[in-house]
Amino acid sequence: MRTIKIFDTTLRDGEQSPGASMNIGEKLQLARQLARLGVDVIEAGFAIASPGDFEAIKTICSEVEGPVMCSLARAREEDIKRAYEAVMEAPKRRIHTFHSTSDIHLKHQFRVSREEALRRSVEMVKLARSLVDDVEFSPMDATRSDAGYLCEVLEAVIDAGAGTVNIPDTVGYSIPNEFGALIKTITEKVKNINKAVISVHCHNDLGLAVANSLSAVINGAGQIECTINGIGERAGNCSMEEVVMALRTRRDIFNADTNINTEEIMRSSRLVTKITGISVQPNKAIVGANAFAHESGIHQDGLLKEKSTYEIIRPETIGLHKTKLVLGKHSGRHAFKTRLKEIGYELTDEEINIAFERFKKLADQKKDIFDEDLETLISEEVAKVEEVYSLIDLNITSGINQKPTAMIKIKAGDNIIEKTEHGDGPVDATYKAIVSATDAKCSLLKFEVKSITGGTDALGEVMVTLEEGGRSVRGHGADTDIIVASAKAYINALNKLAKGMRDKKPFCC
Ligand code: KIV
Ligand code: ZN
Repeated sequence: MRTIKIFDTTLRDGEQSPGASMNIGEKLQLARQLARLGVDVIEAGFAIASPGDFEAIKTICSEVEGPVMCSLARAREEDIKRAYEAVMEAPKRRIHTFHSTSDIHLKHQFRVSREEALRRSVEMVKLARSLVDDVEFSPMDATRSDAGYLCEVLEAVIDAGAGTVNIPDTVGYSIPNEFGALIKTITEKVKNINKAVISVHCHNDLGLAVANSLSAVINGAGQIECTINGIGERAGNCSMEEVVMALRTRRDIFNADTNINTEEIMRSSRLVTKITGISVQPNKAIVGANAFAHESGIHQDGLLKEKSTYEIIRPETIGLHKTKLVLGKHSGRHAFKTRLKEIGYELTDEEINIAFERFKKLADQKKDIFDEDLETLISEEVAKVEEVYSLIDLNITSGINQKPTAMIKIKAGDNIIEKTEHGDGPVDATYKAIVSATDAKCSLLKFEVKSITGGTDALGEVMVTLEEGGRSVRGHGADTDIIVASAKAYINALNKLAKGMRDKKPFCC
């Protein structure tokens, strides 16, 4: 049985999804979860892309233990050096450098010859190897490259010291038998291929990223690059949960497995949704809300008699347990801390004190506190931004024959500002009151609300995207009152705008 390495790029390629940029606190939280999930490599970012990316990689490298930590770098000296500075604190570190090899890219984008691309790739792999022992090279747009030239580049970069050669289907163009055949060609034609691990990096433009990655495994790939929930550039990347569960469920075919602790899959998926605001479609394999919901009477009948009749994966395997009641109003600090530890959160005493206070407030409003509520509470705390504005009070009147009215009190510096506004509904009135209190000049691009657990006393979670002068930011808020959650989300986004945070701008190759 072979062990296929899982290289997670949620923090790098995943973050390239439109609107998915994360702040350092969010990235650190996600990296900790990826370590619990058991991924082999975390691509923590693209160090030279921005100071924020650099800081996030550095922080993750010094605070998260377990996986190999990696930064992306173009095949340029300044990129490689910056990537090294970012990962140098990590006990296990990798530099991942790349250069296009397809004629389309070389001619139209890079405007260099094949010879020059090969020379740069080799030079930069050598430079990276002079800094770290573990170097990965990607020939970008490999699937539209001339196979002979591709093999020549791979052989040269392995000679130069690359321990992993990653074959990207950058534009998601390939189909499974073709991609499998390309991997087979590489195993046959690249003379020194036994000195490197073959990795694959598939995009999902034709919905084939998982199928292509699996076909590559059958043909000799030893590492899969993927993201949680399949997020990523355009149609996304190979989805971690799907590829991992396909390997696990059909070990009989692949004769391969991964080091993934599958019981952490569901929690990882929920965290990515929470942090990025990108929801998972209900019918998505493995982590979609309907993935284990059996609607048909015939299926339900079969399941009641014997689970294997219609269930190929036990929900528990991916960490989908029946939601458990964990804590309530009378639970003490010790029970709170213990439960947090059990679900994977190790907080400092100071963080516990703040979180416990919020938990007590929540327990006053909501009788039963579930694991999902705790996760929301903690992730709000971890991802908190410095507050320029804070919500002091909110009073709403609305009803069938009443004009919805919101009275809001907001603290801005030492001032308390109070405003009352009417609107088309209570959220509209609240947002008008916030805008009038803060003089905000932004527009609302997106508003989403969902409940975290079942029941009428569930925590409601609101995600908004605001735009101001070409900058867009996401804000989150959770509360048992969805109007209050809506106000918190709007104010969270305003705080991000005030602090100059923004969703990522494209970074050029
Ligand atoms: O899709 C791609 O080609 C990439 C490379 C940088 C590996 O993300
Ligand atoms: Zn990619």
